Amino acid sequence: MIRWGSAVGSALLLAACEAEVPAEHQIPGADPRAGVVLIAQFGCGACHRVPGIPGAKGAVGPPLDGFGRRGYVAGRIPNVPDGLVRWLVDPKAIDSQTVMPRVGLDHDQARHVAAYLYTLR
Ligand code: HEC
Repeated sequence: MIRWGSAVGSALLLAACEAEVPAEHQIPGADPRAGVVLIAQFGCGACHRVPGIPGAKGAVGPPLDGFGRRGYVAGRIPNVPDGLVRWLVDPKAIDSQTVMPRVGLDHDQARHVAAYLYTLR
């Protein structure tokens, strides 16, 4: 019973967050829940603190708390879905000097990850 309660609670919380994602950050067909799984799978937490991802406490890159309110991606390009997805797929294509590596996300996976990052407000 208690487990059910908390699962429903988390689902409601996530639904509530999604509802707050402004129109310019909505990514049609992308699923923030798939983003959560991919963020854990691709080890973003080794370098970033990412709210909602167990064990994601890295300090190499900036914490991704409140990322949906940030105006720029890594201070380089405007924080809109196309730019964020490009960054996630290949950061060095945007700035060859950046420390963030290409982690291996494809375009569709990056869209799911971006959808989750935009729920962080
Ligand atoms: C090896 C460490 C490393 C890994 C792994 C890594 N990042 Fe990064 N990331 C960085 C660094 C360092 C920066 C800052 C880049 C810069 O300013 O040049 C950054 C920047 C970012 C930014 C921009 C943050 C901002 O404040 O504007 C986002 C978003 C991001 N990373 C998401 C991810 C995601 C999602 C993953 C996993 C798919 C990931 N990163 C994996 C090191 C990493």
